[in-house]
Amino acid sequence: MIEAENKITFIVDIKARRRRIAEAVTELYEVDVEKVHEKGLEVKTGILETACRQLNEAFLKFVTTGRPFVEAKSALTMDGWTATATGHSRWITNEKSQQFVHRLRDRLDGVLVGVGTVLADDPMLTTRLKKGVGRDPVRIIVDTDLRIPDEAKVLNSDSSALTLIAVGAHVPPQRLRRVEKSGVLILTCPTNEGRIDLAALMDILGGMDIVSVLVEGGSAIMGSMIRERLVDKFYIFKAPKILGGNDGIPMASGPGPREMNGCLRLRDVKLRRFGDDILVRGYPEH
Ligand SMILES: NC(=O)c1ccc[n+]([C@@H]2O[C@H](COP(=O)([O-])OP(=O)(O)OC[C@H]3O[C@@H](n4cnc5c(N)ncnc54)[C@H](OP(=O)(O)O)[C@@H]3O)[C@@H](O)[C@H]2O)c1
Repeated sequence: MIEAENKITFIVDIKARRRRIAEAVTELYEVDVEKVHEKGLEVKTGILETACRQLNEAFLKFVTTGRPFVEAKSALTMDGWTATATGHSRWITNEKSQQFVHRLRDRLDGVLVGVGTVLADDPMLTTRLKKGVGRDPVRIIVDTDLRIPDEAKVLNSDSSALTLIAVGAHVPPQRLRRVEKSGVLILTCPTNEGRIDLAALMDILGGMDIVSVLVEGGSAIMGSMIRERLVDKFYIFKAPKILGGNDGIPMASGPGPREMNGCLRLRDVKLRRFGDDILVRGYPEH
């Protein structure tokens, strides 16, 4: 058995008496069936298609849409809150869950948060695996008015990974220059109702060859991403803690649907345990 042309799509079985080409994903690298028939080969399509698609989900989304594959992670209490009323959220999940998120950061090209999360948590958004290896993703901050404080850790960490800040076109040049001094790249983006147009931002990130992005919140960004159908995969952690009030910060803020049938449904749901934490992984049905 050898692999030809592209590791993802073709397997040429040269040992089989009837030589075959097995093509898993047909919209890419399409086989010229006539040429192949002339050579006495049989073409089979759709072999292990679901598994192949899942294995290459980020690349397939990127090459077919020009946008990154978006994975969204949220850590919630059992009663569904992502932070207390004061914005305190560290930590909801245990260390094993947090290490899983660092593995996601290591695997994906970019990690994205809104400026609200920078103001509340001042995260570094780097990969910190226990084993010490791992690469930092590009850090992407969505910040229409460039409110990020000069002392924010994402602007000052010694990571070699780039920090991108998505801003509106109205930010004064002297403010842009001040922030750019810290080595960040400013992305001037279109806005929608006074906030960054997230779909346009995804096009810009795709144009920069960013194939996959991990959205880590917070609540406003998650709400916008969900309503705009921009999330391709969810990782939702539930920790055995109960906030016990109705004044926490939800996973996604902004208007939801009026009826349950307007909810985003997840398919191919998988459950995993990290100690007492539960991880629900699923793909939204758009
Ligand atoms: N448990 C978890 O998994 C987790 C993860 C992350 C954060 N958090 C918590 O979430 C809280 C922060 O949530 P947050 O909602 O304040 O912050 P956020 O979602 O990180 O950032 C929101 C800000 O992003 C900017 N933004 C720009 N374009 C936007 C768009 N199209 N849609 C939405 N926002 C846009 C807005 O500010 P401008 O208008 O100024 O641009 C907005 O105020 C903190 O308490 C943090 O601890 C929890």
